[in-house]
Amino acid sequence: MSSLTHQPVLLAETLELLAPAPGDVVLDLTAGRGGHAAAVAQIVRGDAATPGHVVLFDLDAGNLAAAATRVRETGCAVTAVHDNFARVDRHLREQGRRADIVLADLGFASTQMDDPERGFSFQHDGPLDMRYDRGDTTTRGLASASAARLLATLTEAELADIVREYGEEPLARKIARKLVQARADGPIESTVRLAQLVVEAYGGRARASRVHPATRTFMALRIAVNEELSALRLLLDGIARAAERVDDGGWLRPGARVGIISFHSLEDRLVKRAFADIRARGLGTVLTRQPVTATAQEVQVNPRSRSAKLRAVRISGPGSPGTEAVRDDT
Ligand SMILES: C[S@@+](CC[C@H](N)C(=O)[O-])C[C@H]1O[C@@H](n2cnc3c(N)ncnc32)[C@H](O)[C@@H]1O
Repeated sequence: MSSLTHQPVLLAETLELLAPAPGDVVLDLTAGRGGHAAAVAQIVRGDAATPGHVVLFDLDAGNLAAAATRVRETGCAVTAVHDNFARVDRHLREQGRRADIVLADLGFASTQMDDPERGFSFQHDGPLDMRYDRGDTTTRGLASASAARLLATLTEAELADIVREYGEEPLARKIARKLVQARADGPIESTVRLAQLVVEAYGGRARASRVHPATRTFMALRIAVNEELSALRLLLDGIARAAERVDDGGWLRPGARVGIISFHSLEDRLVKRAFADIRARGLGTVLTRQPVTATAQEVQVNPRSRSAKLRAVRISGPGSPGTEAVRDDT
């Protein structure tokens, strides 16, 4: 895949579930390179009588600008917000906008993974950064420390917890011990050095590992650096609060469709619970009995789609009819 492309996952399924219509206000909370946003913009842009609008969020200034350009090229009005989606409430209030459609396609874009300077991948040597937002994160993002900084400052127990919980890595304690021993000889600052240390911690077991031994440790650090689960929790709380206020000026319109694509079981569990809670409180309808996953065909052309799970909910607001239960048996 070229470094300028990022194939939108589950695009057809997302469009079908979220059902954009001309004139809609769409929030793409993870603009990336604008794949989903441009496809939605083509539909919602409408005409002079019913103009649509796309609001883009991204922590990565380069991705945000690229996505905004793609949306603008469709002829749709666009507003770009360089901030964490955890703060969506504040921005929508400031803009005086209410959304018909909300999409979040979580995690990293392949353009970020492919760029050695970003430090997300051990396939290339580079500085251990891993922040989505390399600007002034103390005022914008939730997170501010690079992966190298976490590796330099966390205790062995904290490192082990992160690698075990976010990476679901069975050798987390061994890896954390190795990293703490190694940093006594000098800071761990490059992707290849970190990958080597993980391979050393694996020892003879490295040969039996189906994926590269460092895969889970890198994923765990990326999630920790960007505080991805905290951001998702804040977003889901914001959606629930907006659902309570659809009839009272909240940032979601009655009938708004919210879709979230996740790539990690911890994220999917949070989304599933939050949507079930919206249904249980009579604030909306879950549109996905089971999470929607990629077809074998999509996985073949875009391997990243293998772990993608899309869940969606339609917001109706307190006391509205049409909040019939769709039970999720996953
Ligand atoms: C999977 S990509 C989105 C790809 C996009 N749907 C497309 O079709 O091109 C995820 C994007 O979300 C951004 N991101 C991740 N967490 C974020 C957060 N909490 N707030 C805002 N943007 C975030 C990343 O920088 C990345 O560009």
